Amino acid sequence: MRQVLFDELDEIRQKLLNAADEVKENAYNPYSKFYVGAAILTDDDLVITGANVENVAYGSTICAERMAIGRANAMGKRIFKSMAIIARGENTDHKKVTGPCGACRQMIFEFSCLSGKDIEIIMSNTRKDKIIISTIRELLPMAFGPVGLGVSIEEYVN
Ligand code: THU
Repeated sequence: MRQVLFDELDEIRQKLLNAADEVKENAYNPYSKFYVGAAILTDDDLVITGANVENVAYGSTICAERMAIGRANAMGKRIFKSMAIIARGENTDHKKVTGPCGACRQMIFEFSCLSGKDIEIIMSNTRKDKIIISTIRELLPMAFGPVGLGVSIEEYVN
């Protein structure tokens, strides 16, 4: 895990972070008023975004990260290089950096198993003056994956 400056990110990662920042404003969040945006960078440098969608039955809520993964899959994209995440509270949580929840870490890890490569996770506050870079394997140590079940997911690589 390391902290970087926005200017130290390459152009595509700056674009990724800005896409996550922008899409968070589309959060459907009447219950928490928490705005989360996620942006996936695919192996062919496509940026695919997602925002959190809440539900009155709270447990039915889906996080921004999993929304982005679902959109990517629907587009036939499953090989991810990176994911950027930005969140804010109702008023302005500008200083805080938000990491992906446990369920999202597990879901991201699935696609790391699919590609056979680690996935970079870029987490930033909304001011973009605190940016932490990690990877899904660092964020989910001793993860449970398809190998644990003895299942091959190879045929889903696209
Ligand atoms: N949320 C995300 O979208 N991603 C996370 O990693 C953390 C939580 C959303 C779910 C819910 O809509 C709101 O933030 C508060 O938990």
